[in-house]
Amino acid sequence: MAKVSASILACDQTRIGEQVAEAEKAGADLLHVDIMDGVYVENLTYGPQLVADLKRISRLPVSVHMELLRPETFLPMFAKAGADIITFQLDACPNPIHLLKEIQKAKIRAGLGIGPAYDVECLRYLLHHMDCLILMSVEPGYGGQAFEPSVYGKLGRALELMKETGIHIPVSVDGGVNEETGRELVRSGAEVLIAGSYVFRDGEIAERVRRLKAL
Ligand code: DX5
Ligand code: ZN
Repeated sequence: MAKVSASILACDQTRIGEQVAEAEKAGADLLHVDIMDGVYVENLTYGPQLVADLKRISRLPVSVHMELLRPETFLPMFAKAGADIITFQLDACPNPIHLLKEIQKAKIRAGLGIGPAYDVECLRYLLHHMDCLILMSVEPGYGGQAFEPSVYGKLGRALELMKETGIHIPVSVDGGVNEETGRELVRSGAEVLIAGSYVFRDGEIAERVRRLKAL
């Protein structure tokens, strides 16, 4: 059974609280919050206050996905806001090991996100510093984009690297996840499905969460 991380980017932004509550009640395992800076990606999203408010209204762990430059600058404010997991994009940070350690020092699970244009081979040198991995199956920046099937092969390679190094961490896939891609991803070894549009966009949040969880 897959874990489902509900990406609030696709919520009706005027009703995030109620839609999150519906996803939580239906069995969502995590809340995924994309923080975009208008520089690393052209879109702009949330700040730490939303994370603090989500922690107040929900019991689910909040996973902060930093899609921004200079992620180290933003660690203190999201740590203070109560983030349970912080993932930053590998290509946004020249010294990722240092930042992974800083996140862990703040007692937060630390993850790396790898975009669809990037290879996973470097994980060999990083896995022992990481608590989780996000493989992105769309370019960071927007919800509702087309799924890049190259992620299947990458997922397989990431799992091989984990076997070779003897270090297993959970792999999430982010972008274009629906029932069909989700099924194949779970079959290929993904443990967490991060889904925005599929869960929130068609007015049947609970049903969509249940369907993904059942994969
Ligand atoms: C994209 C974000 C994703 C996004 C996924 O930059 O990282 O988390 O919310 O959205 P869907 O599920 O609509 O592809
Ligand atoms: Zn994301």
